[in-house]
Amino acid sequence: MMRTESLLKPINIFDYEALARERLQPAIWDYYQGGSDDEVTLRESRAVFERIRLRPRVLVDVSVIDMQTTILGVPAPMPVMVAPTAAHMLAHPEGECATARGAGQAGAFMIASTSATCTPEQIASEASGPLWFQLYTYRDLNVSAALVRRAEAAGYRAIVLTVDTPRLGSRERDLRNQFLIGKQVTMVNLPAVKEVALSSAARHTVDTWETVDWLRSVTSLPIVLKGILTAEDALLAAERGIEGIVVSNHGGRQLDGAVTSIEALPEVVEAVEGRCEVYVDGGIRRGTDILKALALGARAVLVGRPVIWGLAVNGAEGVCHVLELLRKELELAMMLAGRPTLASIDRSLVRRSAEYPG
Ligand code: GLV
Repeated sequence: MMRTESLLKPINIFDYEALARERLQPAIWDYYQGGSDDEVTLRESRAVFERIRLRPRVLVDVSVIDMQTTILGVPAPMPVMVAPTAAHMLAHPEGECATARGAGQAGAFMIASTSATCTPEQIASEASGPLWFQLYTYRDLNVSAALVRRAEAAGYRAIVLTVDTPRLGSRERDLRNQFLIGKQVTMVNLPAVKEVALSSAARHTVDTWETVDWLRSVTSLPIVLKGILTAEDALLAAERGIEGIVVSNHGGRQLDGAVTSIEALPEVVEAVEGRCEVYVDGGIRRGTDILKALALGARAVLVGRPVIWGLAVNGAEGVCHVLELLRKELELAMMLAGRPTLASIDRSLVRRSAEYPG
């Protein structure tokens, strides 16, 4: 991408990416941008979207486009949420507080991370839209339970347990940069671990289905499991009465070589048979990507890195603009595909092909 005048006025997510790269220190850029090992899953998560082909219908009345939905029963103006990502103060001095303002303005739910640099209460006081709380458990489950209770008290509406991270994947960019997140910013929810590198196994307990049962025993909020990639695990989640699943490979940052989430989505949707909601993240950069995810059965999508890029470039306004760009692109995509409502977006919108499973 060329550095031109037009980049000062970003018109799409990739413009934000290029601008963010100029703004962020290289090691911070690498932390956000990178994946694990050879970054195969990371690259493929983007590339797969470009192979999916749409089957647009024509001569449909698309004069009014309606993308309103509900997510876990709560009205949502659009099927797009802010994914949980760590340490927003690395991208902007106002951190997650700015992200919350931008998300609220754009009408997107925000999932705040355990690894945040603002407290759940601070984030809640800036938010004008629904918040969910992403949970990493710690050796002392009482610490985690206390965090869950704080999130409940602050008005968060769901707990999102990340289930793909018994320890962090090997992020070789961070190793080369000797990047220690705790040296740069404070993970306010876990002051005791602020000096601990993100790559340290000291951070987490190893969660099992028993952890999910424990979580159910300490909260009355709906539980969402983030990081499921197979029908087998989706089935176990549905049988346990889990309210939502995020089909995710953690932005290509955990098991390298793992299937892309958009490829895993159809089998998860099929396995749960409507017993819980299914969302997807990973590689969403265009309105047409959202359309493809919805066609393959997602109720909503999560976007992670693009929100960080918006935040880095222009704080809350940048976050809002990134989300607004996605909303506008989705609106146009729905129109051009002859699918004016979310209900009209179904599997037949995506061409079945050997290249692309499902
Ligand atoms: C934290 O969850 C990360 O992916 O860096």
